Amino acid sequence: MDDSLCVSDCTDCPRLVDSRSRIVNGVGPTDADVVFVGEGPGETEDAEGEPFVGRSGTVLDDALRDAGLAREDVRITNSVRCRPPENRDPRSGELDNCRRHLADELAAIDPEIVVALGKVPAQNLLERSVAVTSEAGDVADARVGDASYRVLICVHPAATLYDGSQKETFQSTIQTAAELAGDGDDGSGQARLGEW
Ligand code: URA
Repeated sequence: MDDSLCVSDCTDCPRLVDSRSRIVNGVGPTDADVVFVGEGPGETEDAEGEPFVGRSGTVLDDALRDAGLAREDVRITNSVRCRPPENRDPRSGELDNCRRHLADELAAIDPEIVVALGKVPAQNLLERSVAVTSEAGDVADARVGDASYRVLICVHPAATLYDGSQKETFQSTIQTAAELAGDGDDGSGQARLGEW
């Protein structure tokens, strides 16, 4: 991994310093067309040092594969890099503290599309309240650091585990991400359209 994208020592959030075992950095190519942004590491991610490797990660990996994308070809990161205590949502001050790390990562990668996996990353990126179920599949512009990005709103993969009706929404949004990144199965993405 490009070390400039790796945060190796940060003590900005004292509560998270106490609850984390390690800092969980993003994974995936530094020239990825698509960056998935989750909420923050859970127990498994904290133990293994990689985002989305627990049950939510399996849901994400399956949806990526069904959309013609491999986990290895996309960038996966989180809004905060340290596990909050008892898996609570990250607090606004913690999201603010970690925003510079996300801004650096997005600036270095400069993706075609950023996918917000759930309400917390969607609200953090777009800096407004988001009704994630009804807005899933919508694309909006977000300013992060010194740059603007297209953000695709998606339900969190864990939502599909608790509410089966969210599965179709999740899968179709991941398919949209693949198409916007130009990598979809049906070849209807930007890269392919640009050839004509
Ligand atoms: N949920 C998240 O939002 N991020 C992870 O890395 C794992 C689960």
